Amino acid sequence: MKRTCQVTLNQKSFPAKCGDVLLDAALANGVDLPHDCRSGICGACRVRLVNGRVFGGRNEDDEMIHACQARLISDIEIETERAPDQVSTSGRVAAITRLSPDVFGVDIELPGPFAYLPGQFCKVQFFGFPARNYSPTYPLEGRPRKHLMHFHIRKFADGLVSSELGRAIRVGHRVRVSGPFGHAFLRPQHSGGIVLASSGTGFAPMWSVAVAAIMERPTRELIFVVAARKLKSLYMHAALCRLALFPNVTIIPTVSEPQNVSAAIRTGRPTDHLPNLSPEDLVYVSGAPAMTAQIAKIAKAAGARCFTDPFVPNETAQGQNTLVRSLGRLARSPGRAFSEIAGRLAG
Ligand code: FES
Repeated sequence: MKRTCQVTLNQKSFPAKCGDVLLDAALANGVDLPHDCRSGICGACRVRLVNGRVFGGRNEDDEMIHACQARLISDIEIETERAPDQVSTSGRVAAITRLSPDVFGVDIELPGPFAYLPGQFCKVQFFGFPARNYSPTYPLEGRPRKHLMHFHIRKFADGLVSSELGRAIRVGHRVRVSGPFGHAFLRPQHSGGIVLASSGTGFAPMWSVAVAAIMERPTRELIFVVAARKLKSLYMHAALCRLALFPNVTIIPTVSEPQNVSAAIRTGRPTDHLPNLSPEDLVYVSGAPAMTAQIAKIAKAAGARCFTDPFVPNETAQGQNTLVRSLGRLARSPGRAFSEIAGRLAG
């Protein structure tokens, strides 16, 4: 093995000892690569491997590597994309709402705006509890409010944090928010189609991407596969109905459990209902790691670029009638109020 490997990051090079961990080599050379957990979990350190080889820190179906896990074994060229600088700030819980039996909407009020790209995630630490990664998202209904961040948090019965929402963690609870992190953020000015796929609360970052993509170009072609385990877990139905009113948007809700409530909802895994992909498509995925890996593999085979932030659980792991009413309304008036909805989203 060579003794010295050259690392080229965004066209600037620095020397490093072969065998060293990429993140350590970068930091030792004064290169401030974003990072957080240093254990291959959070994804904050992921960079695109353009050329060269590393040992570890890589999923074979994607060109991204975890800099905190990858060891240098050759000269490499890597890329990062411009994203807002990471900051840390304190706020308080402004609202906790139950969105479905196992998902809470949590609003956090901060002293000032928190810059992030649609699709990124933050580290959120409720005072007295361990930090968790959650994605800020666009409100499911209505407009965003200044200084307010919205999160969707899945409740785990034995979760150290989520099980305390509404109990020890209430409105007014102090919170620290750090970030932003993540790679599955919207690449603007893309002329091809966009395919989004989410499972569970992976919907939150994908909803942010969908809204930003439609605000950028309301006539763009966008397909959104939204997966949930149960019908009653499709907590985002009102948001989907808003989105489906745009002319070239296709929503594919799918649940794991068999159901015969509505033909508009499919049964099965998100990969069962993914459209045929082409090299012109950009694919964004957020949710369970097995699902994100499968879709990344399908996208790679089709030549499409795919951006994923696997949703690694930190913790072990309005009702059905409203959903049916909303879908029924949508089916009766698919083109209703296109300009009104566009105005609401843009506002
Ligand atoms: S810092 Fe590398 S995955 Fe968290």
